[in-house]
Amino acid sequence: MSRVAYVNGRYMPHGEAAVHIEDRGYQFADGVYEVVLVQDGAMVDEMPHLDRLDRSLRELRIAPPMDRAPLRLVMRELVRRNRIRTGLIYMQVTRGVARRDHPFPENAVPAFVMTAKRIALPNVETVENGVKVVTIRDIRWERCDIKTVALLPNVLGKQHARENGAYEAWQVDDAGNVTEGTSTNAWIVSNAGELITRNADQGILNGITRLTLLKLAAREGLTFVERPFSVEEAKTAREAFISSATSFVTPVTQIDDTVIGNGKAGSLGLKLRDTYLAYAGGEGRTP
Ligand code: PDD
Repeated sequence: MSRVAYVNGRYMPHGEAAVHIEDRGYQFADGVYEVVLVQDGAMVDEMPHLDRLDRSLRELRIAPPMDRAPLRLVMRELVRRNRIRTGLIYMQVTRGVARRDHPFPENAVPAFVMTAKRIALPNVETVENGVKVVTIRDIRWERCDIKTVALLPNVLGKQHARENGAYEAWQVDDAGNVTEGTSTNAWIVSNAGELITRNADQGILNGITRLTLLKLAAREGLTFVERPFSVEEAKTAREAFISSATSFVTPVTQIDDTVIGNGKAGSLGLKLRDTYLAYAGGEGRTP
């Protein structure tokens, strides 16, 4: 079955979907994006993702490409046309097409594209054995809270991870603290059993999965704190894991050369993963 994409008001065969060469996203990375999980044909945490899209647009002073109601219809139509049960929706808004010049163009119309694809969720073995992460210097800018398409440091970091047999790279700030992964948020569980993830300042993307996990942790009566943690602290932690819309909670069992805990997925991480999956299949869904 051929894939269908949405480009500026039209549904197009994926292979023919294109934007102009002077789109500012292409020339300046002047745009933002969102990734929404589709599970059993329903969106997970749809509203928080759309709220974050609005925030990213506001921060960059790009006008919303359309109202929320029609946007949600496009999401559903794309899921339907691509026959997605489990997958993701990718949406991107750029400042639009204009003659190349750095200041905001006067009359550019925001460009809006959406794609949907099937994805395989992390398999049981990955979840039980956990994954390896490597640490790298965080070389990004000071507004990592905006979900922009300017992802070159993240791309280089993920490639470094792959070339070193790792699933993810944890970025480390000048103080020696972990900020986040290249496409995931970072978590540890201290030896006292406390759940720790960095506070959402401008140094990280405030993950929607991260926010949901904090909500679920509070509801479950788990002890948690949002604060920076160092690489050293992570390496001596009882457990570690990463979170994102497409990886949920994925246990981390090795950081650089250090094995975490007993080298198997930790119990709190697995419990949170189950709690999250129940949420994603229940109250977190919008059909
Ligand atoms: N990445 N941090 C970064 C830098 C990210 O790119 C992402 C998401 C996250 C997790 O956010 P959320 O829980 O809202 O997915 C954290 C998406 C999935 C991506 O770029 O593909």
